[in-house]
Amino acid sequence: MNTLILNERQIDTAAAIIRKGGLVSMPTETVYGLAADALNGKAVADIFKAKGRPMDNPLIVHIADISQIYSLVREFPDNAVKLAETFWPGPLTIILPKSDRIPDEVSAGLDTVAIRFPLHPVAQKLIMLSGPLAAPSANLSGSPSPTSAAHVISDMNGRIDAVIDGGDCEVGVESTVITLADEIPRILRPGGITAEQIRQVIGETLIDKAVTEPLGKNEAAASPGMKYKHYSPKANVILIDGSDEAFADYICHAKDDKSAALCYNEEKETLPCLCIPIGAKGDDLAYAHNLFAALRKADENECTVVYAHCPTKEGVGLAVYNRIVRAAGFEIVRL
Ligand code: TXA
Ligand code: MG
Repeated sequence: MNTLILNERQIDTAAAIIRKGGLVSMPTETVYGLAADALNGKAVADIFKAKGRPMDNPLIVHIADISQIYSLVREFPDNAVKLAETFWPGPLTIILPKSDRIPDEVSAGLDTVAIRFPLHPVAQKLIMLSGPLAAPSANLSGSPSPTSAAHVISDMNGRIDAVIDGGDCEVGVESTVITLADEIPRILRPGGITAEQIRQVIGETLIDKAVTEPLGKNEAAASPGMKYKHYSPKANVILIDGSDEAFADYICHAKDDKSAALCYNEEKETLPCLCIPIGAKGDDLAYAHNLFAALRKADENECTVVYAHCPTKEGVGLAVYNRIVRAAGFEIVRL
């Protein structure tokens, strides 16, 4: 299959592909998604094939108008209404009991469905033209999520019908996922909307243990995506928790032939390896924005090792921590 590269004026071409059951990668404010008609089970099954994604990992359904949610869920409780009114459109996904209209391919056999209303105007226009869209991140399963059309092409060329090039994604990490299907709201995946922001709107909110810790052998994942190795470049990621001096010292004494450091802007010319800047020290938003592109850049340069600063677990830092600790196989070098 020849993958078309469309621009923002060709969204109607993309919508026609979706209506025929095809797959289109679309920009969102978080990462690029791989979209299909959410109500067409066969098209949704093709997403799993194109990504090499395990069939037991459910997809998010994207809407572009709150009124679209009513036929997709059985309940739209007060807390969900409050979150939607405050954070939609934006990088928040809400899990609710699903309606019968949701194909099993979307929910992977669960009784719930994840719903998100993205902020990106291209995604919104595509949804308005083609209806609700099921869309995971548009990477090959396991590799870092794509934050540009070039990343999508690098993983998906020849596997999908088209990609709409909408430039670089603003947030850079995937949406916050919260479940309201249990008694107490619980964050399953941290993202651009922080736990602190959510608590201001709905009060008590838990953070699932799997956000920061590996699952035990016999533990079930609340969010199936958490149990898979994720966000990994080909290079071995070494996550370092220590002072900037200790970080530099560790890299100076390491004996890897081809290594890269995800460094602060201030460190750029000072480390004896390929320096890939991820923003100013302490700027969690910049770290989130640059993280996946930086991991991909290390691979493009055929690095075998990537050193990274351990982010804080506060605010958007928690989203960065959640991604990078998985990329590092949950190992942290404490100096
Ligand atoms: O920002 C985003 O959320 C991006 C853009 C494209 O919208 N999408 C995205 O989708 O990251 P994906 O499939 O890569 O991640 C969705 C996560 C997975 O970890 C999945 O297991 C979880 O959400 N999920 C989806 N439906 C669920 C459900 N009903 N119950 C629990 N977890 C669910
Ligand atoms: Mg993903």
